[in-house]
Amino acid sequence: MFRDDLNGLPRYTMPGGYTIRGYQPGDREAWLYIHELAECDRPVDKDIYEEQFDDTDDVRAIRQFFLLNTAGAEIGTASAWYGDDTQGRHWGRIHWVAIVPDEQGHGLAKPFMSFICDKLIEFGHNNAYLTTWDVKAPAINLYLLFGFKPQINGENDRVIWDRVLAKCKY
Ligand SMILES: CC(C)(COP(=O)(O)OP(=O)(O)OC[C@H]1O[C@@H](n2cnc3c(N)ncnc32)[C@H](O)[C@@H]1OP(=O)(O)O)[C@@H](O)C(=O)NCCC(=O)NCCS
Repeated sequence: MFRDDLNGLPRYTMPGGYTIRGYQPGDREAWLYIHELAECDRPVDKDIYEEQFDDTDDVRAIRQFFLLNTAGAEIGTASAWYGDDTQGRHWGRIHWVAIVPDEQGHGLAKPFMSFICDKLIEFGHNNAYLTTWDVKAPAINLYLLFGFKPQINGENDRVIWDRVLAKCKY
């Protein structure tokens, strides 16, 4: 899914007591913990993490974020990353969004997405994309709410997106 510009994004405020912090060295474990709980559609492991966030700790520190609950525990993560070789590095990329199941459905992803999109703007990106797939209805609803549109390359994509969008809220 993609957004040709980052203008007019919806704004949401984080509920009181929840905070966001940037990556610190060693946070791969927190990232894996969150995704192991949240991500039931694909396995995640340290190799995936290293491949997907193939950059220095300094870059991770400014582009990867953790959502903390009122007790200060990491309960979500998302990254304001940059485009891969296909898309090009000037594209911003919303990368690997997840909130642990116990905290889902409480409206936390919306302010977290607002924060991540703001970071992409701060880093100078004028547009953004993300990858997802058809079983991710909650996430796709969230991305549609934020104005991301399906990228349709050919008839097969069109058939899949027609089926997915028929079940979406927006
Ligand atoms: C996607 C995810 C981060 C949403 O987190 P969340 O905290 O539950 O989301 P919120 O409560 O802030 O809801 C945000 C929006 O997401 C959509 N959404 C959330 N749960 C949904 C559900 N069960 N069904 C349909 N849409 C849903 C809605 O559009 C909702 O906004 P609305 O209630 O105003 O309509 C969470 O479901 C998750 O971590 N999923 C597993 C990991 C994943 O699939 N990541 C995305 C990979 S592409």
